[in-house]
Amino acid sequence: MPEMRLVLRNCEVINPKRITTYLARDGFKALQKARDEMTPEQVIEEIKASGLRGRGGAGFPCGLKWELARKSQGDEKYVICNADEGEVGTFKDRYILESDPFTLIEAMAIAGYAIGAKRGYIYLRAEYHYLLDLLVNAIGQAREKGFLEHFDIDIHEGAGSYACGEETALMESIEGKRGEIRYRPPFPPSRGLWGKPTIINNVETLMNIPQIILNGARWFNQMGTERSKGTKVFSVSGDVKRPGVYELVLGSRLKELVEDLAMAGKVKMVQVGGATGRIIPHDMMDAPLSFETILGAGAITVFDESRDTIDIVYRTLEFLAEESCGKCGPCREGTEALVEILGRFTRGEGENKDITALERLSQAMMLSSLCGLGQAAPTPVIDSLQHFRDDYEDRIREKQGGVVA
Ligand SMILES: Cc1cc2nc3c(=O)[nH]c(=O)nc-3n(C[C@H](O)[C@H](O)[C@H](O)COP(=O)(O)O)c2cc1C
Repeated sequence: MPEMRLVLRNCEVINPKRITTYLARDGFKALQKARDEMTPEQVIEEIKASGLRGRGGAGFPCGLKWELARKSQGDEKYVICNADEGEVGTFKDRYILESDPFTLIEAMAIAGYAIGAKRGYIYLRAEYHYLLDLLVNAIGQAREKGFLEHFDIDIHEGAGSYACGEETALMESIEGKRGEIRYRPPFPPSRGLWGKPTIINNVETLMNIPQIILNGARWFNQMGTERSKGTKVFSVSGDVKRPGVYELVLGSRLKELVEDLAMAGKVKMVQVGGATGRIIPHDMMDAPLSFETILGAGAITVFDESRDTIDIVYRTLEFLAEESCGKCGPCREGTEALVEILGRFTRGEGENKDITALERLSQAMMLSSLCGLGQAAPTPVIDSLQHFRDDYEDRIREKQGGVVA
């Protein structure tokens, strides 16, 4: 598998507890270059020209988000790093945070300079509490060296909610409220944290920033496909020999990643992008990994032929129903209803009309839910019905004693 370590270039190379080891690898040179040689507008232009898109799942152009925040009026502005990493099967941000916190700090300081913010927050997943000391130490060392004179960083710990990874619920959480999503517009770059212009970026998105500033947009945008530039870090787990974190140029084939790591048993399917991600059957693994095709936050969960498709989809939906923030009906009630219908299939009680109900309910949820959770929750249902419909029909046949109605 052709790995390319750009985001992960310092992981397992530097000592995450010592800033000197980071400085020896050009650490904080990008921040110095941005502040000494570039205007905030030039920094934003460089990020826009690089084609960098958000790595947290939605793929929004990073430079455009920064430009909107820069142009928004506000006496205060904020930079938030989304380190909630709640997506099922993702653990890449954890690996980055524990191996190279300094690049993230430098990137946030560059973002602060670019949009005109003096304060940033790292929203840290509750389960990553054990990383708190490491991050506090890294921020402290950057402060001591004078890199955070114009921009400082606080850490806000989450409380274990998947929905709080969604950017507006995350801001509610920092403000001390229930982690429920907000209606949009207004979008965070115009009205975000405490009503002020705010940018929210995923850990991995930010990790690209110093290298883009140092090497230039053209260097970056020569890697990848037409609309997906740079690399992507994948969290690979499931029925694989070596689960772990792998970085590949965008546009690489799913099978390059999976075949090298698969175990002896034949691969049945791969879930790309976590609980709300796509289900890719084994015969479609030639697909390129890019924003144009499939990507999400880069979770790759491999299932071999011993796995039961309906059971996987049922358990995925149970998780999503549990984690729905409850604000909008289509998601709150829809996820519960999907669990109920899928449960009938797992108990061997499913009927043909249940397949129709799954399809209709999924369509309604995708069209009417307020945020990505409810909109994408039906994805595993729809995909499994498309690629593994036989599994559902077999259950119905079993119930009817061998005859499909
Ligand atoms: C239910 C839900 C959970 C999310 N969880 C995360 C998360 O854990 N980490 C993350 O970076 N983005 C998450 N997102 C996406 C964020 O809302 C947002 O798009 C992202 O932080 C923007 O950063 P980016 O442009 O750098 O990707 C989630 C979205 C939804 C709908």
